[in-house]
Amino acid sequence: MDLKPFLISLVRSILFTGFEFFECHTALFCCWPDVVVNCAALSVHRACEMDPAAAMSVNVPSSLVNWLSSLEESNYLLIHLSTDQVYEGVKSFYKEDDEVVPVNVYGKSKVAAEQFITEKCSNFAILRSSIIFGPQTISPVSKSLPIQWVDGVLSKGNTTEFFHDEFRCPVYVKDVIAIILALSKTWISEAKQRNLLLNVGGLDRVSRVQMAETVADIRGYNLSLIKSVSASSTLGISPISFRDGVRLTLEL
Ligand SMILES: NC(=O)c1ccc[n+]([C@@H]2O[C@H](COP(=O)([O-])OP(=O)(O)OC[C@H]3O[C@@H](n4cnc5c(N)ncnc54)[C@H](OP(=O)(O)O)[C@@H]3O)[C@@H](O)[C@H]2O)c1
Repeated sequence: MDLKPFLISLVRSILFTGFEFFECHTALFCCWPDVVVNCAALSVHRACEMDPAAAMSVNVPSSLVNWLSSLEESNYLLIHLSTDQVYEGVKSFYKEDDEVVPVNVYGKSKVAAEQFITEKCSNFAILRSSIIFGPQTISPVSKSLPIQWVDGVLSKGNTTEFFHDEFRCPVYVKDVIAIILALSKTWISEAKQRNLLLNVGGLDRVSRVQMAETVADIRGYNLSLIKSVSASSTLGISPISFRDGVRLTLEL
């Protein structure tokens, strides 16, 4: 029996639904995986900040990697979902070889995961994804999804604050899947090992305000519901413009 189509579909199942590690183990133990896509994470920032040890324990896939390494005929590609939040976020258009400076526990745990995988695996692809958006899954996830959340608040006519100075490159979920499938198929057909680190973003760099405006435009909501605020306003700080800063610096 050719197991590869089964494995690809299993990979898709893992990607779409999320498996408990032990379910994954049970599903795979009868055959050697060609590709493993690790989507498991503690991804809610508040939960990570409240319990850094749990964030490290879930987000660094040590059990998974150690188990895969223990398989007798182990010859797999590990595709690991990381995040653009490994970067500090003080400039635009980060490159993969830019320094990682995570500013929160979630980002720190993802950097630790990347380091662990880089040290322990010989064949891997780490995808540093920006915000992933798309339709609700067949088995609905309980967490708030980004576009659906904006749609929800604006459809109720609630005036809502959005940051005009936080920029991301949101990527559609099926584009992420296309990358994962392309990597999987290439590994299965060519068997060429990779040590790949890839930023995964969509075509557009947009602020939170621009994301909300796009939803409002497509739905026909009133744009005045979108209140543009600075991310720093949550700390009660009002940064001055570059021009004003130059004036003050030159004492004019
Ligand atoms: N969504 C985004 O915008 C985005 C952006 C960049 C990177 N990422 C990364 O992409 C991956 C998937 O993101 P997501 O939004 O789908 O995350 P999510 O909604 O938080 O889902 C995480 C999955 O991990 C599972 N999980 C949690 N703890 C586990 C454990 N101890 N053992 C096994 N499974 C466990 C969860 O299962 P339960 O539901 O049963 O708890 C859930 O299926 C994550 O690695 C995330 O960091 C996501």
